[in-house]
Amino acid sequence: MLRRDWDDHAGQWIAWARAPGHDSYWRFHRDEFLALVPPPGRLTLDIGCGEGRVARDLRARGHRVVVGDAARLPVGDGVADGAVAFMSLQDIDDLEAATAELARVLRPGGRLALAVVHPVNSAGRFVGDKGGDARPFVITDSWFERRRTVDTLERDGLTMTFHSEHRPLGAYADALTGAGFLIERLREVTDPDPDGDWVRVPMFLQVLAVRNG
Ligand SMILES: C[S@@+](CC[C@H](N)C(=O)[O-])C[C@H]1O[C@@H](n2cnc3c(N)ncnc32)[C@H](O)[C@@H]1O
Repeated sequence: MLRRDWDDHAGQWIAWARAPGHDSYWRFHRDEFLALVPPPGRLTLDIGCGEGRVARDLRARGHRVVVGDAARLPVGDGVADGAVAFMSLQDIDDLEAATAELARVLRPGGRLALAVVHPVNSAGRFVGDKGGDARPFVITDSWFERRRTVDTLERDGLTMTFHSEHRPLGAYADALTGAGFLIERLREVTDPDPDGDWVRVPMFLQVLAVRNG
């Protein structure tokens, strides 16, 4: 199970997520994401909160934040004005159950802001030697087939193993619309470093969706 795999790596994640300036959250993704999050209402839910850095940033912006298991959120129907799922839905076992649960707890007109690993990112990889000409980005396996992915990254003395599921773009769109959301905005975000490979390929996908009335 993805949930258990993440629990097994919780210590690694806390060190990785809290190291100042260490990952994309600190370098560009937090600011890009918070610009998408609607203003605070009565209650905002944070799905897949990890060690809590998004919830802390939301609280600093006036949100009252609750966190919980994506499959069984600890609140009643229609009580939340907003929800965020920052970099978590690709790591959650049952995408459809999670979006249905989000639809249950949001009031009609309430909004969900989410970010996931872009399906292009989880489907393929850059090949060739780093530092040379623009490296080709290659997708060798099926784009459409859902599959588990395991990536171990090492940087600045820290190691983190990411357990996720590759899902095509249509899976996210179908899960959201099937649960009763209307997709309002869809943004493709990448590392702005002009010398890096990722400037040419989307790293993350952000979506703003509204709960149908
Ligand atoms: C990449 S981390 C992101 C954490 C946090 N949102 C952040 O950006 O700092 C993904 C998180 O999803 C959590 N997760 C996986 N399955 C979950 C589930 N069923 N319910 C809630 N969280 C889950 C993992 O424990 C992990 O903390």
